[in-house]
Amino acid sequence: MAFYRSHVLVCVDPECLAKGAHEIVDALQDELVAQGLIDEIQVFETSRIGGCADGPEMMVYPEGVHYLGMTADDIPFLVEEHFLKGRTVERFREVVKPVVDEELGPLRPKEVRGVLRNCGEIDPNNIEDYLATDGYQALGKALFEMTPESVIDEVLKSGLRGRGGAGFPAGRKWALTR
Ligand code: FES
Repeated sequence: MAFYRSHVLVCVDPECLAKGAHEIVDALQDELVAQGLIDEIQVFETSRIGGCADGPEMMVYPEGVHYLGMTADDIPFLVEEHFLKGRTVERFREVVKPVVDEELGPLRPKEVRGVLRNCGEIDPNNIEDYLATDGYQALGKALFEMTPESVIDEVLKSGLRGRGGAGFPAGRKWALTR
């Protein structure tokens, strides 16, 4: 099993794809080979990482550096600077701007991810990544420790709703179906 010193996760959701995410992935692979780093740095395709407006976007771990807005032509420079010389490329680094309301002052970010909290941090095509972040723990609990009624109660209490547009409470749907 290979061990990599860095992982690069490139978003390939629609907005980033439209801005050349696949070209970024190809350029990264080519450049890592060209600079002799392909056995040290692993590249994954992943789902949405950030705000989507300034893509393509990528995350580099373990540093947790969020890059965005680069093109495939920028990749040789980025690989050389970040992975060979160990210097963060500030030009492409995400600038975190605090959300400020004119009346209320600084606010928390609008989105706090729950179910999707691992997005951009694991390879969604690798089940071992999912298991390593406690994947399927809730399924195991539901199957082996809870009754069907208590599962439905839990889903009702969670406030989970469908995302098809109507926002119907999932727990109510499950109760009716049962
Ligand atoms: S679509 Fe890539 S970060 Fe949103």
